[in-house]
Order: sequence, then C-alpha cells, then structure tokens
Amino acid sequence: MGAERQKAHAAAAALGYVESGMTLGLGSGSTAEIFLRLLGERIKDGLDVRGVPTSQRTAEVARENGVPLIEVDHVDHLAVTIDGADEVDGRFQLIKGGGACLLREKIIAHASDLMVVMVDESKLVDTLGKFPLPVEVDPFGFSLTAKQIYDALKKAGVNAPDVQLRRKGDGLAPLITDGGHYILDCACGAIPDAALADRYLKEIPGVVEHGLFLGLARVVIVGEDSEARVME
Ligand code: 5RP
Repeated sequence: MGAERQKAHAAAAALGYVESGMTLGLGSGSTAEIFLRLLGERIKDGLDVRGVPTSQRTAEVARENGVPLIEVDHVDHLAVTIDGADEVDGRFQLIKGGGACLLREKIIAHASDLMVVMVDESKLVDTLGKFPLPVEVDPFGFSLTAKQIYDALKKAGVNAPDVQLRRKGDGLAPLITDGGHYILDCACGAIPDAALADRYLKEIPGVVEHGLFLGLARVVIVGEDSEARVME
C-alpha cells in the first residue's frame, strides 16, 4: 500500500514535465500506468500531447485512458520520456526491465531530450545490483549467451552472478518480449562498476540489450508517503 501511494505521488509530480505540443515516450510498468491514467485526465481537460508506447501493454493502457499514440517510426525525436525503474543509484544510474520492456524503453529514452524517472522510495540504492539485472537476448544460442554473460559480469567485478532464464507464469515456457527475445535475469548482489558491466555485456553478440540505463535519466522523482521529491 505504501509503495502504491508513493508511486502515485511520483506520477502526479511527473505531469509537471509535460506541456501541450509534446511528443512523449510512455514508459512501462505499474508506475507508468498510474502516470497514463493521470495523463488521460489532463488530456480530457485540454492538454494536447501524443505518445510513443514502450510496450504493447502500455499501448493498451494509453488507449483505455484516451492518450493519443503515434507510430514510433513517424517521430524523429521525443521531448520527454516518463518511465519507472527497478533501481536508481545516487548518480541516476538505473536498472530497468523488471517488466521485460527494457529494449523499447532504452530506444525511446535514448531518442528523448529528457528522461524523467518515477520511483517509490524502495527503488533507491547505494549500489546497483540487488535487483537482478535483466538482459534481453536472442533466443538462438541463449545458453551460450548466458555463459558469456556470466563471464562478462565476473570480469566486471560481480562476485558470483547467477544467470536465469525468465519464464512465463506457468514456470515452463520462456517469457518472450514484445520484440521476440528472451530475458536472462542476472542476480548480482552488487554491480561495483556499472559502466564496465555495460561495456562487457555489449560485446556479446547474443545480447540484444541490457537493463543498465547509464547517463540517460536527468530527473528522478521519488514518491514519498505524503509528497514527491524531485531530484535534478
Ligand atoms: C519495465 C520497467 C519498469 O519501469 C520497472 O520494472 C518498474 O516497474 P514498476 O513501476 O511496476 O515498479 O523497467 O521493463
């Protein structure tokens, strides 16, 4: 309950970064969905924006709330992306991908003038890595890729990475992302040097993208019990 209230405060404060005429990147996850509901209310009151969704689920929620969408290939850049995160450290480095949408989220954040991140207090960490790092991989040869990811994380200073294929709710079939890939969740405990992990993971051919978002977020809004704290 506390986290939900905090997410709602963060989402409400994120509306302060939205102005008529903007094309928005619409993030994914429960906090992003709260934001979409609030955005829908503003649109009913006359706010004129359109959004590029970062997942099929976000597209559905946007439509339900009357948020106009635009095809990603019909925009050349976006004004603001508003998204959640699984972890945020003091340098605004993020882990994302808990909802398996990290590839599209990163593409859209990278194309945006500004990335605003909304989190509840539980997401703030000193060192990234308590939340298992999601890595999106091509299904072909994913076991080989998993071994290479393990080696890369070890080389980046992670003590004992544990790399697991994410499965659907039935616990059997692999979860398939909107882009048709698998997710390998990498329990790290702590990632001492996120930039090094980023570099080594990118060198692996089977890795499509990973959930470390470095140098992208410029605003972090932390929802608290009675208000939101904006960090820029
Ligand atoms: C989806 C994400 C989400 O932003 C992240 O998992 C946070 O979700 P929530 O707002 O539900 O806590 O990265 O891929």
